Amino acid sequence: MSMATDSQTPGSRLVGRLLDPTSRADPYPIYAGFRALGPVWIEEMSSLVVASYRDCETLLRDPRLSAERDRFFQADQAADLYPAHAPSSVRQPWFLSLDPPDHTRLRRLVISAFTPRAVARMEDSIAQLVDEYLDGAAEQETFDVLSGLAYPLPVTVICRMLGVPPADERLFHRWSAQLTRMLDGFSNRYDGSGETPEWMQGEVELHRYVNELVADRRKSPRRDDLISELLAAEDGGDVLSHDELVSTVVLLLVAGHETTVNLIANGVLALLRHPGHLAALRAGPGTAPAVVEEILRYDPPVQLTVRVADHDLRVGDAKVPAGGLVLLLLAAAHRDPEATPDPDRFDPNREQVRHLGFGFGPHFCLGAPLARLEGRLALAAFARRVREPELVADPPPYREHVNLRGVSELLISHAGVTR
Ligand code: HEM
Repeated sequence: MSMATDSQTPGSRLVGRLLDPTSRADPYPIYAGFRALGPVWIEEMSSLVVASYRDCETLLRDPRLSAERDRFFQADQAADLYPAHAPSSVRQPWFLSLDPPDHTRLRRLVISAFTPRAVARMEDSIAQLVDEYLDGAAEQETFDVLSGLAYPLPVTVICRMLGVPPADERLFHRWSAQLTRMLDGFSNRYDGSGETPEWMQGEVELHRYVNELVADRRKSPRRDDLISELLAAEDGGDVLSHDELVSTVVLLLVAGHETTVNLIANGVLALLRHPGHLAALRAGPGTAPAVVEEILRYDPPVQLTVRVADHDLRVGDAKVPAGGLVLLLLAAAHRDPEATPDPDRFDPNREQVRHLGFGFGPHFCLGAPLARLEGRLALAAFARRVREPELVADPPPYREHVNLRGVSELLISHAGVTR
């Protein structure tokens, strides 16, 4: 997919602005531009861009759209650049990118581990981790909320669920950062050099590691981790192949990491910019779930998702040929005044928060209960323990990612962290 930056049409001009790194701190005026255009076909990207709430919601459950992104992206992602020694699981698409019946079969195998009830069992250990990270902040004059709290929490939690030995958790930080480029979908474009890109090397290393971990669990199964449960399913019949198992574990590691990092960091940022709401959360930690929902709407960790048209389609006045990409700008839909009154205002006290932050329809985020729990505990503890935080730079610096958009650093100076 070539991303035109030479401005031909209003749509491609907006795409050019969206891809410009200087827009990262505030892409919302660009999203407003897309909403004003209505559904727009951008020829040079072979893509339809959709920005209204109603269109995004409707298309996310339209069976004429496929989640098999690889069909569209394969050509320029240079799938044949995997090194010869790469494990075969790297070519197994994860179920985020599969349609029924394979999607349904694989999703069903892990859904029970992520129900609100199942994740509630982790509440105490997550709260304890959050407290340990904030204890670390007490020693520091300035504290980076990203590297000190938001970044380590989700990766540690998912590693523990899967049964990754604690000594290996640090490996996942690097792999996760590399693989986020792949999940982002905008920062992993093949540069045509013929070299294996860095993110792909990270993917291969992670697959190799997970293959070994699975082999290890096969030899000595445990009773309390998700990999052992998946192995039992694999052994229990023709339900899951080895490569599908590995690719599912990789998906859980990657999909739940940077997304939750950004939920926490975007949340702290919004609270620091709205001290009244930070004080309200400090006074009433029970409001944390409402704060989390409003963050998911106001500044969502996943800004967009994509589908591929299985058939020729018409959306509004725009036509999409079969095989075309459909880009659903979730973050734009969240600021649609037809869905949310006064949408540009951050207000955790809204009566109803409508968002597609976890997607919608058959691919609705499987980890939503876990992400909500981590977000709630991290934000409530931040409000309770960090007494007078001040943002060192506003806006803070952002990473290059367009989709999994988030800060690269969130420095606060503070007058003390309490117990
Ligand atoms: C705030 C944090 C999170 C956000 C904003 C988020 C967002 C999303 C979104 C928007 C989708 C749908 C993508 C699409 O329809 O194309 C999705 C799917 C998914 N998410 Fe999350 N996610 C988060 C955390 C997690 C966590 C913690 C996990 C697991 C550990 C997880 C696992 C998944 C999986 C497995 C899918 C694919 C579901 C399917 O295809 O059926 N996510 N997520």
